[in-house]
Amino acid sequence: MKPIIVGNWKANKNFEIFNKISSKFTNIEICIALPYIYIPHTKNYNQEFISIAAQDCSKFPPGSYTGEVPASFLKDNQVKYVIIGHSERRKEFKENSYDFSAKINRALAAGLKVIYCIGENSEERDNQTYLKVLYDQFLTVVGEGIEIDIAYEPVWAIGTGIIPKIEEITEVVEKIKRWSKIINVKGRILYGGSVCYETMGPLQKIPGVDGFLIGKSSLKEEFIDICEAFNASYND
Ligand code: PGA
Repeated sequence: MKPIIVGNWKANKNFEIFNKISSKFTNIEICIALPYIYIPHTKNYNQEFISIAAQDCSKFPPGSYTGEVPASFLKDNQVKYVIIGHSERRKEFKENSYDFSAKINRALAAGLKVIYCIGENSEERDNQTYLKVLYDQFLTVVGEGIEIDIAYEPVWAIGTGIIPKIEEITEVVEKIKRWSKIINVKGRILYGGSVCYETMGPLQKIPGVDGFLIGKSSLKEEFIDICEAFNASYND
């Protein structure tokens, strides 16, 4: 599995990014997670070098679930990845571990790859309960023996410009690796939270970090520079 950069557009769009990524970065995979409604629109652009992700999927199968988008419909529309468990889904939509495990099961059964997000808030970091919180978010949702990418996104680092200390990220990445090993889970570990061209250097050197989940900077031209620099870091 190649390292990966995932741009999470959230409820925004900038299709210029598709035009600008006009060649393959051979060492890494590049993925863009865009709003459902614009997924078919990507066919108008050079899609050859970019994997498509959805930002969510339904926990239900196709049927009488007004407003929902089932995982199998995403698969039918060239979607490769789905992000599940983003902290904005936890906070703004009150989704919980039950929702996330149901969604992950649906997504995997439909043949999608899952990027599952975990992350503590600032209070949990300050009162030292963050490892327990992360362990619960991981263990109540991630099933034994599955293949899944885990994105560690401290809530206090998302969209704030605050980057955790390297030791803080390293500690969590090591834990995720250990927890994954115990239940025979395979996949990449991504870091997310205020990643930009200026901040990515030290982050990409952290052992066990196989990529980034990027919000704000994925909507800017800077995203191309990030991809180029990340790709170059895997040369030789
Ligand atoms: P950010 O967002 O890069 O703007 O901090 C990351 C995310 O929410 O996935």
